[in-house]
Amino acid sequence: MTKFSDIKGFAFDLDGVIADTARFHGQAWHQTADEVGTTWTEELAESLKGISRMDSLQLILDHGDHADSFSEKDKELLATKKNLNYQKLIETLTPEDILPGMLEFIRSADDNGYKMSIASASKNAPLILKQLGLTEYFVGIVDPATLHAGKPDPEIFVRAAEVLGLAPTAVIGLEDSSAGIDSINGAGQVSLGIGDDKVLSKATLNFKQTSLVTLENIKNKMTN
Ligand code: G6P
Ligand code: MG
Repeated sequence: MTKFSDIKGFAFDLDGVIADTARFHGQAWHQTADEVGTTWTEELAESLKGISRMDSLQLILDHGDHADSFSEKDKELLATKKNLNYQKLIETLTPEDILPGMLEFIRSADDNGYKMSIASASKNAPLILKQLGLTEYFVGIVDPATLHAGKPDPEIFVRAAEVLGLAPTAVIGLEDSSAGIDSINGAGQVSLGIGDDKVLSKATLNFKQTSLVTLENIKNKMTN
């Protein structure tokens, strides 16, 4: 088992870990679901977490049983419209919207010499970090446009460790989605799940909410 003293860096998911943007994605996709005639449910919203824009749209279409009713061009238009609606919502973000405790955690990790990178499927990650005033804390952001496969594939967290210049076993990945936990585990890192431990049952470490994520609490849950 990885020891806390082996850890040298953190790879962060963004939506639902650093900022409460999952509700904005939900709001914007809800509009898309209404437009294409798919019933919006909490379960559907949960299954979209961590999933790329086009794959999310496909899940919404499949859920309403009309996967074949839309051409590739229609899908591009629907995804673009969703993103424009989403961007209107994230433009309102300020540092006040950082999830409870995460600014303190990021600052203390920085003060203690840990390196940090972003492993988010979102092409809007640079804009969100800027709005939140957090850009300077991260040595890099994996560009999701360059990936061959999205979460749950390990690629994004493998790349996030490369950005840090660290072995995967020296990295803790933080995630709020089940697809993301699978990606971290596949990359050979310690997975830290934030949220319901039934949904995130495969996480190495689990925290109910962001405010509980501190270096001290992580250390206490690991061997030292
Ligand atoms: C994150 C979110 C997903 C979102 C994806 C792509 O992983 O959890 O809900 O679909 O990013 O985001 P984007 O901003 O590129 O549409
Ligand atoms: Mg997330």
